[in-house]
Amino acid sequence: MIHFNKLTKQFDLVTKNNQFSLGILESGHIVELYFGKKIAHNGLDYCIENNAHASYMADTDSKKGFQLELLPLLFPSFGNPDLRSSAYQFYFQNGEKLSDFRYNSHHIYRGKKEITDLPASFGNKEIVTTIDISLKDDIAQMEMIISISTFDDYDVFTQHVKVQNFSKETVTIEKLLSLNLDFMRDDFDLCLLTGAWSRETHLQRHPLHRGIQGIDSKRGASGHGQNPFVALVDPGTTLDDGQVIGANLIYSGNFVAHAEVDMYQQTRLQLGINPHDFEWHLLSGKSFETPEAVLVFAENGLNKMAQTFHRFYKECLINPNFADKERPILINNWEATYFDFNRPKLLSLANEAASLGIELFVLDDGWFGNRHSDKSALGDWQPNEKKLGGSLQSLIREIKGKGLLFGLWVEPEMVSKDSELFRTHPDWIIYEKRRVPQESRNQYVLDLSKIEVQQHIISFMTELLSSHSIDYIKWDMNRNITDAGSSHLLHSKELGHRYILGLYRILDQLTSAFPHVLFESCAGGGGRYDPGMLFYTPQIWPSDDTDAIERLSIQSGSSLVYPPSTMGCHISAIPNHQVARNTSLSTRSIVAQQGNLGYELDLTQLTFEEKQEIRKQIILYKNERKLLQFGMHTQLTVNDSSNECAWQKQNSQTIVVSHVYKLAKPNVLSKRIKLKQLPKKCNYKLQGTNKVYTSDELMIIGLSLPNPTSDFMATRFTLEKLNEK
Ligand code: DGJ
Repeated sequence: MIHFNKLTKQFDLVTKNNQFSLGILESGHIVELYFGKKIAHNGLDYCIENNAHASYMADTDSKKGFQLELLPLLFPSFGNPDLRSSAYQFYFQNGEKLSDFRYNSHHIYRGKKEITDLPASFGNKEIVTTIDISLKDDIAQMEMIISISTFDDYDVFTQHVKVQNFSKETVTIEKLLSLNLDFMRDDFDLCLLTGAWSRETHLQRHPLHRGIQGIDSKRGASGHGQNPFVALVDPGTTLDDGQVIGANLIYSGNFVAHAEVDMYQQTRLQLGINPHDFEWHLLSGKSFETPEAVLVFAENGLNKMAQTFHRFYKECLINPNFADKERPILINNWEATYFDFNRPKLLSLANEAASLGIELFVLDDGWFGNRHSDKSALGDWQPNEKKLGGSLQSLIREIKGKGLLFGLWVEPEMVSKDSELFRTHPDWIIYEKRRVPQESRNQYVLDLSKIEVQQHIISFMTELLSSHSIDYIKWDMNRNITDAGSSHLLHSKELGHRYILGLYRILDQLTSAFPHVLFESCAGGGGRYDPGMLFYTPQIWPSDDTDAIERLSIQSGSSLVYPPSTMGCHISAIPNHQVARNTSLSTRSIVAQQGNLGYELDLTQLTFEEKQEIRKQIILYKNERKLLQFGMHTQLTVNDSSNECAWQKQNSQTIVVSHVYKLAKPNVLSKRIKLKQLPKKCNYKLQGTNKVYTSDELMIIGLSLPNPTSDFMATRFTLEKLNEK
């Protein structure tokens, strides 16, 4: 038998526990030999031995039986001759559309390069090693560099791709993904984070079936129902057992995250910019870089994957000025007043906030221009001094005089039809010249692909931030992009990506110029909860839904990937404004303490008892803030996951366990909640009692939960470590 799959080289890219093994075939194709737990081996070439040949499958390079479609490929080309979904596709000026990149050379180095104009993970020579694999297509006169970085101690791989056009002609990139992973099996469950506005990041899991399945966004933003995350898990995988392959894209625009199961029970996982409505005209001599994909393998279930992402994002993605910085407890006036406020109202809220121990006052929508509803004034960012009862700076001074920090809401990417900005620059919006553009929430999207629009946003934000003592910015985006043509680009299929590049440029300039300002991004809630935004804004508002029970699913989903310190979690009024549910203040507090605690209700309407309770919540939260925001976060296994949710926060000294029952049930016995991942042979004292438990007891027997006496009952336990035996 002839072996076409002879390897000329094999690379084992290894982290502390995991391994990604690649091989270069004699033909120059790059194959994925193995991805998973680190293993001792004597060469992995047998993994791709081409024993069985399938009929009706094209041969490669005229070699009978050399069938690329049966091989796990690192970055497959279009139709040449693998006929599964390709990782890239180019279109040439002479009408040709085939390309065929083969191995050229490689370069291994400590550290990691930046990606031009895009957010990306970072790490110095001590923590990361990179391999740049160069592939060439001599006919197209193009080079492709696939960069894979291994973050050893983090057990994380990242990958991105760069193409360079050395030909004399412009080449059209029709598709260029960031990641392609092939597996010679299809017995996986696919996990996605999906939902809609007000119910974002719900975990959806189902077994793979034949064909293409997954999630994508064509909305101009990652989207409320389209988180750029995908995982393949072994069918029996739980929170703590079973293998997980998780991937996340550091990008905030249109993306695709698909799994394709082919005719031979092979699975192809793909992640990258959505090729739908995408093109890039790569001029002669120019290069294009894709966003970076983050790839995690975990042997011990979804919790391990989540903890791996959390640590990696905290230390290698989020702005180091804020990565470890405790986040202030805030009051946001949105659900307290909506647009209906004046200076006395704001000051009365600030007074109450200060007396309760709140630290940051956030003035939401409605402080500028002629903005009294969502019908007007986006774009007119001059403070409305009549409504504010004086200058914005004088209001800030007064609020700060109460011992509070000050934060402000903006929505810089948008313009209202009824605004001075739109009347002056109607051509600054995204539209096509022959069509009437659609409004959504009475607003248009500014065309961030235009440099003058980028400059305008940078200038007014710079002016706002330099002439006011602002500590925090809530950066909102309240509609998706329709009419995604262009009034100025020659190639309007470049608009989606150019918009995101423009947004990143603006955020880069502002966050560098104002390094002390804490940015929280928001897109009508979690419409852009992605690692691209996280690179610039260390906090994200996960949802406009502040109901404690709906938040259980939203926050469990978000925290599967994103660190709890990135989640804004607010206590709001009852009946809840989104779902009209009544939950106790205690339950709302326990749920909001899963992330960065905030309040979003009219504090002046609270009873004396409610204020006393909030004071206590705030003292408790401040005492445990480091643990609650940055401690190791673990989802606990509950007796009935349709009716309960529980999680544990832990550092070397303290454990906080939170448990919520949704509906009370009659005539049931009380249950126990078992803790996880505790150090062996330790003793923990349960706060408020004299009871001391061993870590074994806590993990094997568990803490006794009170029987629910009403719907939506939450319980919280704090345990302090005593001594090591
Ligand atoms: C949508 C946000 O998610 C809300 O919190 C609030 O800021 C409104 N926009 C203001 O218009």
